[in-house]
Amino acid sequence: MTTDLSQMTFPKASTPHPKETRIILANSEREDFDASIDCYTRNGGYDVLKKALSMKPEEVHQEVLDSGIRGRGGAGFPAGMKWKFLDRKSGKPIYLICNADESEPGTFKDRQIMHKDPHQLIEGMMITAYAINAAQAFIYIREEMPYGAQILDQAIAEAKAVGFVGDNIGGSGYSCELIVHRGAAAYICGEETGLIESLEGKRAYPRIKPPYFPAALGLYMCPTIVNNVETLCHVKHIVERGGRAYSEIGTPNNSGTRIWCLSGHVMRPGYYELETGKVTYGELINDIGGGLRSGRTLQAVIPGGSSSKIWRAGERFKGKLRNGTEFDWAIDDIPLDFDSPAAAGSMSGSGAVIVIDDSADIVEVLANINEFYAHESCGQCTPCREGSLWMKKITARMARGGARPEDAQLLASIGDQIAGKTICAHGEACAWPTQSFVNKFEDKFVAKAEDKSPEPKSEFQMV
Ligand SMILES: Cc1cc2nc3c(=O)[nH]c(=O)nc-3n(C[C@H](O)[C@H](O)[C@H](O)COP(=O)(O)O)c2cc1C
Ligand code: SF4
Repeated sequence: MTTDLSQMTFPKASTPHPKETRIILANSEREDFDASIDCYTRNGGYDVLKKALSMKPEEVHQEVLDSGIRGRGGAGFPAGMKWKFLDRKSGKPIYLICNADESEPGTFKDRQIMHKDPHQLIEGMMITAYAINAAQAFIYIREEMPYGAQILDQAIAEAKAVGFVGDNIGGSGYSCELIVHRGAAAYICGEETGLIESLEGKRAYPRIKPPYFPAALGLYMCPTIVNNVETLCHVKHIVERGGRAYSEIGTPNNSGTRIWCLSGHVMRPGYYELETGKVTYGELINDIGGGLRSGRTLQAVIPGGSSSKIWRAGERFKGKLRNGTEFDWAIDDIPLDFDSPAAAGSMSGSGAVIVIDDSADIVEVLANINEFYAHESCGQCTPCREGSLWMKKITARMARGGARPEDAQLLASIGDQIAGKTICAHGEACAWPTQSFVNKFEDKFVAKAEDKSPEPKSEFQMV
């Protein structure tokens, strides 16, 4: 079914908060900006592609290396370094894939770009394809985003009609096709090797790494780069400003801006683009996000998507950063970047910050998360397939009033037998919530055995 796109409207984010720095969202959130190529080119669109095509591919790659940009999809791996790993000696075609699956719970940033500024992504992808010498590129978009797929299809047709996609791009002699592929509606399709299997028309069973690192053995066993939507958009801005100038934005080793998705018990949930490392979790939650609801106190923060390890309010995080700086943080003090959440025992993951106030029953929150990860296990590895199901069943029973005093330790031991023992990182994604919830809130898990309420009580409803 196709929809008349001219009738589609996607709400725009309000004027930027003074602590926001919009680069990726600069146009998309303007009321006078739309998804058409006319509007895009009126605002300087595709000028950076022309600039890139006047450079050598390796010069474009060098700018991305100089920028220090790290992937915005989850692992935070430096993009320029990943491109370096491409097996160029194989003589096989090189592919570029944009990971637009965006399925980590709490994450809703990539769709804003695709719905409102699709040409920014296309321009970033064409520059990237040129830099890595790919003649075929794909956007693998989550099945549940049908309008996104339609908008991208239309935008690609527009770009093709004026020569920014397809044959002889901008008269440069360089050609690259771009295809939108609708996903298979499963979380595991976002894992890059599962995605590649799905794109090949198979079930999204992740591949084991090594040897199947996409840069060596990716799509059709050819060298392949998989990057996130937001990462690929940044490539345009890196080439426009120059890699070194871009690296001045943000903080060392955490360059650029990043879009953070704020959800849960805050007054102003939303997506906010911030200079990486220049704003703290406390500023995001309390200033930009408007703080908690009246009369409520903070119970916990999940800092980087539902698979990241939870932080309990009142915790202190002490240690030394890679640059030798000692830190002693409360949650509010932790900088929103890649390295700080990791130093505080968790990760920035997909950039999804989930705030939990004291109204939530923490066991029910975990039961909800476990329901999701058990459903999404692809089933290839016994620890993930069986363990995620056991964790789901135990926490669901606890939430229904059947908790036992030994459950906390039982859950922890199941988590310990999954993490690090599976083909893909879904093993960690399903184990980390259970391990960290039990570790940080053991008192509440033990107390749950005393509480025989028959129904879940918090706002985090069981699915
Ligand atoms: C279970 C699982 C699900 C993932 N889902 C996504 C996703 O929806 N979108 C995404 O960009 N990356 C996702 N990733 C990360 C990708 O495997 C990959 O690292 C990323 O697309 C690389 O892009 P980047 O380097 O630009 O971040 C997922 C990883 C795992 C283990
Ligand atoms: S860890 Fe889980 S999702 Fe990943 S391959 Fe194994 S069973 Fe599948």
